[in-house]
Amino acid sequence: MDKLIIQGGATLNGEIWISGAKNSALPILAATLLCDEPVTISNLPHLHDITTMIELLGCMGAQVVIDEKLSIEVNASSLTSCVAPYKLVKTMRASILVLGPLLAHYGETRVSFPGGCAIGSRPVDLHLRALEAMGAEITIEEGYIHAKSNGRLKGAHVVFDVVTVGGTENAVMAATLADGVTILENAAREPEIVDLCRCLVAMGAEIEGIGTNRLVITGKEKLHGTEYAVMPDRIETGTYLTAVAATSGKVKLKNTDPSSLEAVLSKLQEAGADISLGEDWITLDMKGKRPKAVNVKTAPYPAFPTDMQAQFTALNSIAEGTSTVIETIFENRLIQAHEMNRMGAQIQLEGNAAVITGVEALKSAPVMATDLRASASLVIAALVAEGETVIDRIYHIDRGYECIEEKLQLLGANIRRVPD
Ligand code: UD1
Repeated sequence: MDKLIIQGGATLNGEIWISGAKNSALPILAATLLCDEPVTISNLPHLHDITTMIELLGCMGAQVVIDEKLSIEVNASSLTSCVAPYKLVKTMRASILVLGPLLAHYGETRVSFPGGCAIGSRPVDLHLRALEAMGAEITIEEGYIHAKSNGRLKGAHVVFDVVTVGGTENAVMAATLADGVTILENAAREPEIVDLCRCLVAMGAEIEGIGTNRLVITGKEKLHGTEYAVMPDRIETGTYLTAVAATSGKVKLKNTDPSSLEAVLSKLQEAGADISLGEDWITLDMKGKRPKAVNVKTAPYPAFPTDMQAQFTALNSIAEGTSTVIETIFENRLIQAHEMNRMGAQIQLEGNAAVITGVEALKSAPVMATDLRASASLVIAALVAEGETVIDRIYHIDRGYECIEEKLQLLGANIRRVPD
């Protein structure tokens, strides 16, 4: 297993490019299963999760052609199987996103039941309930979700109990091919869902209310091929901004989308950052100052994203003052605080809240990444720690951050990867 070795203390400064959004690329890749024509997707990030989704499409018989810039053309007309096997689903929960498209297009599918993960139990009951409302018959057999429809799915009125990103994505994809109108209430409205909906519209789908929590989808008999560029990754953007803020540095991020980051940018300003925005760039300048502690509470978009919580916990651990970070989406997502405390942070966990007393400096220690965003927070902690920190189990970070050490090196960080 690779490790990252980071010598802390450098003030980050420079310019980097932001990659395409993982969480938008994954459902868009799944959406290629909705039609029998080639769909070409560009601005895909070069990440393990994307490779896993491409492998999943390929193992079901889709023809996948990748060019040198990682634009890919998927042609699902050659599909030979509608089974998403355990060996791939177990490595990536987002494989569940093929359930809605396969069921809607082919009338039957078996998708391995995804398990829990480090950040919580993560059920898929709401995905299944939405598909059942559209007429699917669903049974669980030998660890697989077996979903069947008699003919086309039917338009339905679905009210989600909880705001679910993946559940909304599966339902909206299935509804594009259903017979009649589907109304999804209390739908998630994360920017990645807007991106997915725009791609579906480019494939011929009819969707109203894009960007709101009420989506109205008029099903079509078929969708067609298209070309689509994935949006920039707002979580990658937020992670680099937070890393630079923690080191009191200055950065320009290019090829990003400031409009999808309002909650995060306003918290960074509260922490003392000077921020300027253009249409596709953001600059952040701490003017050499230590960040101020900021309170954070995660909630569905447009509130503060759970995927930025760990990075802000790291920022607050070296900030001036005391803060509270409340996690409302996943039950076990403050877990990285224990590793940060091993580096001298003063974080007390009380249920779903972390009370953080900022310290002037963290100290290096061997630490271990437990999930994707927790890994990013340990990288931030290591960047500001005194001494050399070794971060183990770094494979998590490769699921969500393209070329992380190269990008941080460009900003002046002293970071290297060593194979085990
Ligand atoms: C997606 C993102 C993930 C992000 C999360 C919340 C992808 C690939 N992943 O995950 O990075 O952290 O949104 O913004 O896009 N829930 C249920 N039943 C369900 C589904 C969800 O109870 O059927 C609960 C979950 O346990 C959780 C909450 O709903 O407490 C939100 O989860 P959800 O939005 O579905 O997260 P994902 O789509 O898995």
